[in-house]
Amino acid sequence: MSSLIERDRATLWHPYAPASGTLPLWEVEAADGVALRLRDEQGRTHEVLDAMSSWWSVIHGYRHPVMDAAIQRQLGNFSHVMFGGLTHPPAVALAESLLSMAPAEPGRRVERVFLADSGSISVEVALKMAVQFQTANGRPKRQRFLTIRGGYHGDTFAAMGVCDPVDGMHSSFPGLLARNVFAPRPPAAAAAPAGIAEWRAEVEKLARQHSNELAAIIVEPMLQGAGGMFMYPAECVRILRDIADHHGLLLILDEIATGLGRTGELFAAQHAGVVPDILCVGKALTGGYLTLAATLCTGEVARAVSAGEAGALLHGPTFMANPLACAAANASLGILATGAWRADVARVGAGLTAGLAPALKLDAVADVRTFGAVGVIELTDAVDVAAVTRAVVEHGVWVRPFRNLVYTMPPYISSATEVDVMATAMVAAVEETSNQRAAA
Ligand SMILES: Cc1ncc(COP(=O)(O)O)c(C=O)c1O
Repeated sequence: MSSLIERDRATLWHPYAPASGTLPLWEVEAADGVALRLRDEQGRTHEVLDAMSSWWSVIHGYRHPVMDAAIQRQLGNFSHVMFGGLTHPPAVALAESLLSMAPAEPGRRVERVFLADSGSISVEVALKMAVQFQTANGRPKRQRFLTIRGGYHGDTFAAMGVCDPVDGMHSSFPGLLARNVFAPRPPAAAAAPAGIAEWRAEVEKLARQHSNELAAIIVEPMLQGAGGMFMYPAECVRILRDIADHHGLLLILDEIATGLGRTGELFAAQHAGVVPDILCVGKALTGGYLTLAATLCTGEVARAVSAGEAGALLHGPTFMANPLACAAANASLGILATGAWRADVARVGAGLTAGLAPALKLDAVADVRTFGAVGVIELTDAVDVAAVTRAVVEHGVWVRPFRNLVYTMPPYISSATEVDVMATAMVAAVEETSNQRAAA
């Protein structure tokens, strides 16, 4: 009888992996609070703390009683209905909550919500909204997007088209990806204000050159996540808002990674005091329980799109506004509404700052940085993913490094002690694996 891992290896794809996976694989036997119980390929069991929040989504932890109860309640009612021609309480409540939480200022606020089935799809919808908005306003040639290098917005084709052109899979699908306009990456937050004026001039030049063909600017505000865990100054988000307004472009903020408290504000845009025309939220939206994302837009965008030739926003997935996912999201937003997340994120952030600092003295480490409940160790060379992952698991922690980054985004509920265990394990794993490499 083959083990579960052998059966997996014979049948399944994993994210960004070849069919015959060579990286180690662990079976999840249980997940509760911040803890996972893993079984490795040799049959050994490991109790680990999840420093990834399952790709940044499980902010309240696993098996949260409020979350579990909300989904069970909805399950006892109905689990799915189509959203064409039908509606239901979880969807309406979710839209109302999201709109009341989103950044707003006099003259600009989001007023309408599209419930998409994943982050990538919410980005597709945002891009469509922008193009339909421009077309409805008599500018049908505006079909391209301006973004900054180093971004990540998802794996579907339009979303990939605004990911970093070098690291974002563009070379694998040259005939399928839109040719968008890429401005340089802003200066790092730690370097500010050096370089901001030059960067502004570059972005302005590109916006001027291409304004007749641009529909919108799209960026992850303050923190580029999967594109490199790169933090940049709030001033640069404000500059993008100004440039968008000056050239009649919409500003799309992708807060799928940063939204719902992760950076210390409910939305990262609030660090900059910027209100977007279109806002994408996902990941933590359902507390990581079910897949759901949302694209929020201003009344101006919604009215223009609806008055355009098509007379509608041209998107409508089968599982749009799935009631179970909406119930999970309502429970997750309800937990956030208690406000405890702010102290939680501050505690996690302080723990990461203190706990990761010792990594700076390691030769293999180029930089250590934290922002909200995000902690990053940047190595001088590419990470040996298998070696680092095995090493942290031995130290009782789960992380998933990529490129030259060993990083963590712990669940908000992580205690100071748990954060310390996570950070200490990461530093130890980096030290051990870089020593082994140096000795080899
Ligand atoms: C900023 C950002 N946008 C979009 C996405 C895509 O979301 P999903 O994986 O749910 O499609 C991600 C996922 O990591 C992300 O970090």
